[in-house]
Amino acid sequence: MSRPTRSRGPSRRQFLLGGTLTGAGAAAALGIDAALRPRLAEKPEPALHGGDVVPFHGAHQAGIATDAQAHGAFVALDLREGVNRDDLARLMRILTDDAARLTQGEPALADSEPELAEHPARLTVTFGFGPGFVARAGGSGPSWLGPLPAYGIDRLASGFSHGDLVLQIASDDPITLAHALRMLLKDARSFATVRWTQRGFRRAHGTERPGTTMRNLFGQVDGTTNPVPGTTDFDELVWSSDGWLAGGTGMVIRRIRMDLDTWDELDRPGREASVGRTLDSGAPLTGGGEHDAPDFEATTALGFPVIPVFAHMRRARSADPRERFFRRAYNYDERATGEEISDAGLIFVTFQADVARQFEPVQRRLDELDLLNEWTTPIGSAVFAVPPGCDEGGFVGETLLG
Ligand code: HEM
Repeated sequence: MSRPTRSRGPSRRQFLLGGTLTGAGAAAALGIDAALRPRLAEKPEPALHGGDVVPFHGAHQAGIATDAQAHGAFVALDLREGVNRDDLARLMRILTDDAARLTQGEPALADSEPELAEHPARLTVTFGFGPGFVARAGGSGPSWLGPLPAYGIDRLASGFSHGDLVLQIASDDPITLAHALRMLLKDARSFATVRWTQRGFRRAHGTERPGTTMRNLFGQVDGTTNPVPGTTDFDELVWSSDGWLAGGTGMVIRRIRMDLDTWDELDRPGREASVGRTLDSGAPLTGGGEHDAPDFEATTALGFPVIPVFAHMRRARSADPRERFFRRAYNYDERATGEEISDAGLIFVTFQADVARQFEPVQRRLDELDLLNEWTTPIGSAVFAVPPGCDEGGFVGETLLG
């Protein structure tokens, strides 16, 4: 068990200055405190990141190619009965205005807690439309917009599926995120009700060097083989060029429970074999570093493949390079109840131009066989069309509603 780290200075001071000290003891203690004070004052000012801002306006919505922030919330809304196309345009104008202000560190209009908007900490707000939204807008397509096919591994019973409108809100600061979420939901309230909310996290900002691949709660390095934002490869895989969705993308959100209790029963070689990568660096089992290519042909002295035939990495990799997508997942860790000491997993989020062509073949293959399936269970599933970004004065969704 790791021991809690302690800051020696303050705790010694607290002890020395405790209310029970009297007379000479107290004087000596105060002398020590005075001696410590200049040292504390000499500490350099910490670099603060609260003011870091991600531009809101542009060809694509922010929050996709943006380096993943430490905290993410996903909220799906259901439109109220009677909300029509004009109402949707009004709703999206209001939400766009809120998001444009809040992400730049300004309060929303009629912000009830304007101080909570002061530190955006790379806040982004990304909107996605479900099939119900597009239908209510009188629009059509894309053809893949709807529930994914039912997979044998799915146990979608917990109310984390589908929805008319999704908000992905992410920031390096959880208070900023909570405030933005509340402001947006307050403004959406007369148009829609909340269907589900999911909250997730990665390492706290500043814990690791930027660009470090995240770890999931199995301890795995997760996200190594992923298209890289800013490359042509990423642009071609992620951004749609179809109709009102041009410049937008398709979003899949799967809530996948990870059974940490049974994972605990597996030894380290078994854990590494299930994916085909080492736990320490995330390198392929055939050697090298995290980003080195795996050797799928390599065999052990006994003639078995070093990367098992049903390892997650092998099953998830397509021979067709067009069957790829961008993964931008968050961990979740919720209430433990009764005998179970954890309720944890991934909010598995992917972005791709065409969900049917890029995502479904991979998910189908993993459904058929994947060693990881022994410890993972999809319990929620939703697909959204994420419209392109907008310029100042415009609104997200204008290509569908304008
Ligand atoms: C809780 C569920 C899951 C866990 C814990 C998990 C974990 C991992 C890990 C550790 C890797 C290796 C490192 C990397 O390249 O990121 C990986 C790779 C990958 N995973 Fe998953 N994964 C999960 C679910 C899924 C699902 C549902 C899909 C797609 C439908 C998927 C698609 C992929 C792909 C495409 C790769 C890269 C394969 C390659 O090397 O080409 N994963 N995953």
